[in-house]
Amino acid sequence: MSEPTHLAATASAPSNIAFLKYWGNVNEGLRLPYNPSLSMNLDAATTTTTVRFDPGLNVDSLSIDDEARRGAALTRVGQHLDHIRARADISHRAHVRSHNTFPMGTGIASSASAFAALTVAATAAAGLPLDEKVQSAIARRGSGSAARSVPDGFVAWRAAARSEDSFAESIHPPDHWDLRDLVAVVSHAHKEVGSGGGHALAAASPFFAARQRHLLGRYLAMRDALAARDLAALGPLIEAEALELHAIAMTSRPPVLYWDGATVALLNATRRWRDEGLAVYFTLDAGPNVHLLCEAHDADDLERALQARGDVERVLHNRPAYGARLVAPSAAA
Ligand code: PMV
Repeated sequence: MSEPTHLAATASAPSNIAFLKYWGNVNEGLRLPYNPSLSMNLDAATTTTTVRFDPGLNVDSLSIDDEARRGAALTRVGQHLDHIRARADISHRAHVRSHNTFPMGTGIASSASAFAALTVAATAAAGLPLDEKVQSAIARRGSGSAARSVPDGFVAWRAAARSEDSFAESIHPPDHWDLRDLVAVVSHAHKEVGSGGGHALAAASPFFAARQRHLLGRYLAMRDALAARDLAALGPLIEAEALELHAIAMTSRPPVLYWDGATVALLNATRRWRDEGLAVYFTLDAGPNVHLLCEAHDADDLERALQARGDVERVLHNRPAYGARLVAPSAAA
């Protein structure tokens, strides 16, 4: 059994917002998705994680935002570390300390940034080579969408039959397009059904097979619109995709409803703002918060309109971001 040369490392990773959604696994254990997905990394929603393998430790320990965590969160992190330990042929348990810049469990994908940062920090601490595709595929096993938080900017994640082939890659760097994602936080409540439960139920929807049949066409059209920086083409595809994900969730057995009243009010407001000349489009993840996409020149007007509403608790203003990176330990929050 070899010993790691580094033992400790710190990494930072952005969350991401999916334009084309991952919803449902062909293989639940390996988190191999039914379909490819497309996303943008978010610069205002990041996780910074330090992993320190400690020869004197008997069990892994985890703190998130300075709170010690046991139970399901620690088990999931421990299993992810087990996979990395097996690859690196090491046995040390680890201290894991993580900090988020955004509220967890509210539809801002905390598991994406969390498992991307954990993967990059733990593989570096274990002395494994820093290959981006391998890291993305490892991150995917912790949380599917985490695969997309490893590469830079605008990202595509491949659906593949073999685990090592299902990784994400950058299709455009962050400076390709100054698209903004303003997250209207309407609820800090932790969601009742996590995305893991939603994935397992997805294929039970009678509409799931129909969705799979047209997704490839939507994927290709989105890639073209993204390459051309054409929001008038991309926006309607993104909205249709978000509504479809929730249609699948609402028609799963048992059904899952992630929306609040404020969610519906914001979807209607988006259409109204668009009628008034603001080029803004919505999307949603597995939660009640609404992600509003616009170009840089409309972002201040949109932010003011959101701040003026009584049903929006907080606005998180995101620009396209680089993917996961190692950072100096002193930079860890
Ligand atoms: O990575 P997970 O298991 O948290 O799933 C993410 C699911 C969605 O956010 C709803 C869609 C996506 O592609 O990010």
